[in-house]
Amino acid sequence: MKVLCALFLFCVSVRLVHLQGPGSGTNGNLRLCVVEGRGPFKRGATFCPLLDDENSGLECVLGTDQLDCLRRIGKNTVDFGVFSPEDLIAAQWADIDVLVTDELRNRFRPYARSIVAVVNRRILPDRPSSLDFVLHNTTLCHPVVGVDDLRPLSDTLAGYLESLIIPRACDPSLTLTENRIKALSEFFHKACKAGPWVPDVGRDAELKGKYPNLCAGCANPACREDDKYWGATGALECLLDNSGDTMWGELYDVQYIFGLNSTSVSGEPMLSSKQFAYLCRDGTWQAIEDNLTPCVWLNRPWPVVIAKRKAAEAVSKLIGSLKEDDMFNSHWRGALTSLLEIRQPPTPVNPPKTPLDYLASAQGFREAYSQSGCDPPRHITLCTTSNLERNKCEWLSEAGAVYGINPPLQCVVRNSTRDCLKAVKAGECDVAVGDSEWLMASTRDYGLEPVLYETTPIVEKMDTVVAYVRNGDVLTKMEDLSGKRAAFPLFDGMAWHTVLQYIKNKEKLNCAEAMFDYFSEICAPGIEEMDGGVISQMNIDKFTNGCIKNGDKVVSGEIAALQTLVEGKSDVAFISFKTANLYLNKQIMDPWADNDVDIMPVCPDENKKYCYLSWSNIGHIFASRNLTDMRRQEIVNVFTKLDQRFGEHQPSHNVMFTMYGPFNHAMDVLFHNNTKTLTTADMYKNTHPYASMPLNFERTVTNDSCQIADLARDSVNGFAPTFSLLISCLLLTILSR
Ligand SMILES: *[C@@H]1O[C@H](CO)[C@@H](O)[C@H](O)[C@H]1NC(C)=O
Ligand SMILES: *[C@@H]1O[C@H](CO)[C@@H](O)[C@H](O)[C@H]1NC(C)=O
Ligand SMILES: *[C@@H]1O[C@H](CO)[C@@H](O)[C@H](O)[C@H]1NC(C)=O
Ligand SMILES: *[C@@H]1O[C@H](CO)[C@@H](O)[C@H](O)[C@H]1NC(C)=O
Ligand SMILES: *[C@@H]1O[C@H](CO)[C@@H](O)[C@H](O)[C@H]1NC(C)=O
Ligand SMILES: *[C@@H]1O[C@H](CO)[C@@H](O)[C@H](O)[C@H]1NC(C)=O
Repeated sequence: MKVLCALFLFCVSVRLVHLQGPGSGTNGNLRLCVVEGRGPFKRGATFCPLLDDENSGLECVLGTDQLDCLRRIGKNTVDFGVFSPEDLIAAQWADIDVLVTDELRNRFRPYARSIVAVVNRRILPDRPSSLDFVLHNTTLCHPVVGVDDLRPLSDTLAGYLESLIIPRACDPSLTLTENRIKALSEFFHKACKAGPWVPDVGRDAELKGKYPNLCAGCANPACREDDKYWGATGALECLLDNSGDTMWGELYDVQYIFGLNSTSVSGEPMLSSKQFAYLCRDGTWQAIEDNLTPCVWLNRPWPVVIAKRKAAEAVSKLIGSLKEDDMFNSHWRGALTSLLEIRQPPTPVNPPKTPLDYLASAQGFREAYSQSGCDPPRHITLCTTSNLERNKCEWLSEAGAVYGINPPLQCVVRNSTRDCLKAVKAGECDVAVGDSEWLMASTRDYGLEPVLYETTPIVEKMDTVVAYVRNGDVLTKMEDLSGKRAAFPLFDGMAWHTVLQYIKNKEKLNCAEAMFDYFSEICAPGIEEMDGGVISQMNIDKFTNGCIKNGDKVVSGEIAALQTLVEGKSDVAFISFKTANLYLNKQIMDPWADNDVDIMPVCPDENKKYCYLSWSNIGHIFASRNLTDMRRQEIVNVFTKLDQRFGEHQPSHNVMFTMYGPFNHAMDVLFHNNTKTLTTADMYKNTHPYASMPLNFERTVTNDSCQIADLARDSVNGFAPTFSLLISCLLLTILSR
């Protein structure tokens, strides 16, 4: 009987295997990759459970962002998802084997957007001529570019349209952004290009002052985002008010405004379209009235369903089966339409096409993304310290290029942060990233400085140095720490310099005294790795005796410093709130961390409010101190734009890439998860909230700090008097034998 049963079960399971679908999920379920929004409404959390509960043959996988979903398809861990045409461009370098199975239109139009040029007939010459001849020295109503995807143009598409009339400018003394602005300014008599031109406010004002004719066409010379002529409809208004001669805009907006596909009460078109004409890419023009299919400069395709090749047929069938009714269905089919954001029955791509073939059918779209750059090419080379970091950098670079963020990032890899700082110094890279532990070394040893800071408004998430002690030890004032055993995360790091500086100033000690006499014992990992042999073995032993060791290797970092405190190997650990909170919230999984030792901070008199000894931003983009202004602007512009596009600013859920989010399941790769924005040193100006926070480390890091030389020179001194006395006694005892 048992045997029979087993045989029967075996047969059933074999049958199941045979029935398995083509998907990568359990039993061959098709897996859909969904990106959860940052907003309060969570599509995945709302609709995915319905797919699981109802035996739909589908499973959800939550991706971090669109490109994460594409990578998962590439790795065969999901089967399909919905992507924008820009996502497909960004992914083309990765050569992922997928097919476009369906278009998801939400209107009955062949393309999501069709960009046309409309001109006032007064500028038209007697007979068709070159675009350059027609448009030169006219007034442009600029279709402004914003970070919001809903506006008609991205920076790339606007740049492409400009490139069709103005040759690329490549003055090596100007940033690429300024080159473009200058060329526009010289070609047109006037324009209204309202709103920010670059994210950095100071630089924006500078550029607007330098090229005032690009704001002279605006309703208000302030040239701001609230200008009457700002945005897609603003540009149309600028044209209709006779304030400008020419504009690019969305075909359907133009038709709507001229009342072409609808009539007013009187039966007449709403506006006289006779005064205007469509201008074509070849310099000819066409009437607006009675012309529902005019010449188009650029088409942007609809979002599409992409499936890995193996699953394309099954996905095609599934999506093809979705009907109008399903959108109102409260079961899994309705959930699926919501997850895919289907607003009308999908349009099949038959047979399924590769992404590039699909995009090729939209005039101008692919060309827009293969514009030639300047010669010699410009890049911003970012130094990374692992293949994972480099890979993230490369995806960021592709994503940035799609949105016209220029010059593009280039990614190189070195063995360590120190090697990266060296590479920046040597001019092999433009920038490297590093946390606060690297502030001293980057400034002192490599002639670098932070050009941008990864900031967070939350003190508990910042890099801080706080004196933590065990709760029962009745150490309540900083002075109580004198003569105690101290643990630092890293020699020459932020806590090291902060604390020595504090003691020096407070106790009127010199560096040697602060290092040797104040504490009875110090753990400062990393001292054993200092190059040059300036530090004697005796000092190395002295500064690592009390540290956590892994075999012979001294363990560095905040967690190790905390461990010495918890295990009673030290009396005070100088660590951040962040690390202390990990411990207090029982998020450290090592055995030493699950005992009941309670820890508490000792607040310095100077900072009862926040209790830290110093604070600093969580990340830094380091560049050479002697960058030219032009290069500095270029670097700041590229990274602030990347931040604006891929940072925390966008509420929308179909974010192509997240700079600060997890990458391939790893946190804090290259940039930090807690980062809110990237900011220049302007944040220290008085008006900024950060400026009022006391004891900033970044601004004081190099002031008269204690250096290795102090250690070397004074290494003849002992530790705390008692300790050196002990050594002397020992020596005497040995000698007197
Ligand atoms: C450009 O146009 C303006 C006004 O339309 C005119 O005053 C100016 O002379 C023109 N400049 C050139 C170089 O044609
Ligand atoms: C005009 O409007 C009708 C219905 O409102 C629509 O079916 C048609 O496609 C529109 N034509 C164009 C060119 O937009
Ligand atoms: C990186 O480390 C490897 C192995 O440790 C070594 O062979 C290589 O030379 C190092 N590269 C650099 C640039 O230091
Ligand atoms: C600074 O500029 C000088 C000459 O302009 C150059 O020799 C030096 O290498 C530069 N320093 C750095 C850190 O780039
Ligand atoms: C990462 O950042 C997000 C948003 O800022 C936050 O919700 C999440 O808790 C963070 N994750 C970790 C592990 O810190
Ligand atoms: C530290 O140096 C900065 C400039 O590098 C200076 O503005 C500041 O006043 C100095 N602070 C102290 C305490 O010396």
